Amino acid sequence: MAETTTSQVLGIDIGGSGIKGAIVDLNTGEFLTERHKIETPKASTPEAVASIVAEIVEHFDYEGPVGITLPAVIKQQVARTAANIDKSWIGTNVDELFSRHLPGREISVLNDADAAGLAEVAFGDDLARQGAVIFLTLGTGIGSAFICDGVLFPNTEIGHLIVNGDEAEHQAASSAKDREELSYKKWAKRVDLVLHEYERLFFPSAFVIGGGISRKHEKWMPLLTVETPVVPAQLRNTAGIVGAAMAVSQHLHP
Ligand code: BGC
Repeated sequence: MAETTTSQVLGIDIGGSGIKGAIVDLNTGEFLTERHKIETPKASTPEAVASIVAEIVEHFDYEGPVGITLPAVIKQQVARTAANIDKSWIGTNVDELFSRHLPGREISVLNDADAAGLAEVAFGDDLARQGAVIFLTLGTGIGSAFICDGVLFPNTEIGHLIVNGDEAEHQAASSAKDREELSYKKWAKRVDLVLHEYERLFFPSAFVIGGGISRKHEKWMPLLTVETPVVPAQLRNTAGIVGAAMAVSQHLHP
C-alpha cells in the first residue's frame, strides 16, 4: 500500500520485549492494519533496533511519516535515559539514527508513556479530553505523561519521584506487586500513596492509568482515596502505536 493519506500514519512502539507497528487512522485512533510485531533483539542496541524498525516499515510497504516510541527520555531528539533497552541508547541522536535507516521521510521519536498519554487523552475516556491530565502506565516501571488540553509537556518521569523514601516506581509499578507478591489491597495502598503525592504537587484534573494492570481496574481502583478522578486507560496496548502516529502527524519533535 504505497498510497497513504495524512490521516493514515504508521506508528511504531519500541519496548523491552517487542517492537510493534501498525498503520493508524488518526480520525478514529483505530488500526487500519494488523499489528506487526518483531521481538526486540537481545542486544537492543540503537543499530539493531533501528534495523528492525526499518523491517517493520518495509512490511507495510509504506512511504509516509513514521512515529516511533522509546522507553527513554528524548530531549532535542537525543535519548537521555534507557529503561529496559541497551544503555548505549543514552546520548544517541535518534533523529539521525532513524533517518539513516529510513531515509527521506519525516520521523518523530518520543517517550513511550508520552505517546500513550497523547493517544488516551485524544481517544480514551471523556473525562480526560480536557484539563490538566496526568497519564500513568503501571508496568515494569511507572511511565508518565502530562497533557494539558491535548498539549504534551514531555519527559516528566514522575515514576522516579521519591515518595516516602523510595522511588514511586519501585514501590507502586505493577512489577512491584509481582515481585513482592502483594495482594491488590496492599498494592493499591502504595499506588494511593503515590497518587496522593502527585495530587499534592500537581493538582491534576484527572489521572488516567494504563498498563496491563488497568485491565483489572475494578480490583483496585475503588480502593483509591485521592480526590482527583482516576480512570482506566481505554486504548491499552494500542496506545503507544497510536500516540507515535499522532506525534509525527503533529510534527512533535521533543
Ligand atoms: C522510564 C520512562 C518510561 C517508563 C515506561 C520508566 O522507568 O524512566 O522513561 O516511560 O519506565 O516504560
